[in-house]
Amino acid sequence: MRTRRDPRTLADGPSVLDRMAEILAARGIDHAQVDALGDEPEPFSPEAALSAGMPSRYRDAVADHPLVLAWTRQVAAQATAPSTGARRQVTCGPSLLMAGVTGAGKTHQAFGAVRVLVRSGLGVRWRATTAADLYAELRPSTATDAERVLAAYSRVPLLILDDLGAAKTSEFVEEQTYWLINRRYNHCLPTLITTNLAIKDLRTCLGDRVTSRLAEMTTRVEFEPVDRRRHRRAA
Ligand SMILES: Nc1ncnc2c1ncn2[C@@H]1O[C@H](COP(=O)(O)OP(=O)(O)OP(=O)(O)O)[C@@H](O)[C@H]1O
Ligand SMILES: [Mg+2]
Repeated sequence: MRTRRDPRTLADGPSVLDRMAEILAARGIDHAQVDALGDEPEPFSPEAALSAGMPSRYRDAVADHPLVLAWTRQVAAQATAPSTGARRQVTCGPSLLMAGVTGAGKTHQAFGAVRVLVRSGLGVRWRATTAADLYAELRPSTATDAERVLAAYSRVPLLILDDLGAAKTSEFVEEQTYWLINRRYNHCLPTLITTNLAIKDLRTCLGDRVTSRLAEMTTRVEFEPVDRRRHRRAA
């Protein structure tokens, strides 16, 4: 059977591979060595690639919070394949607002949730930022193309937005957060948000338009009020 992947079947006469071997031979390169390169195992599994893109502290994080795991199942159930036979991709789904004291394990659960999705075999295009880093990237003085930066965070299928409400509030912070959340809200893009603040404090800090959208698009996950950092050191 002819397949698109085998260039030898595409045409009669010398195949693309034969032609390539001729070109390599003319340049004194042994094509067997080049072929062998193609046989090497991929250096990164999707999970290894995922770990490489994560902050070291959360590289081995695996989500175990029941509500976070329920969220991964919901997002996985809504994943779709871009074409017949292609790998299913995370595209849209619900979001989580993970709230709790410092050290409760919110960021751990957020990165761990991405890992659970990758392990399930889905294609996951994701990004992570803290709200403070995002505002710093968007600040006009940083001289980056702020619109493109914001578009990238607002369009990526899965976003971790860590420490929402931790940055000093201002009109700029409120506006940029509204822009980001509104786009993700409109397109039902799954977003994992962590915060130390109670909802009323988030409203004071980010305005009602942001918190109204968060109320609809997220399930709130409350963490045990235990600082795991101090707890661990005390043990
Ligand atoms: N389920 C877990 N299993 C093992 N270690 C955990 C777990 N959850 C959190 N930790 C560890 O506890 C510490 C605090 O977790 P994390 O940074 O996620 O807290 P946080 O709630 O995001 O805190 P903050 O609000 O200050 O950002 C980290 O060292 C993290 O690796
Ligand atoms: Mg955190």
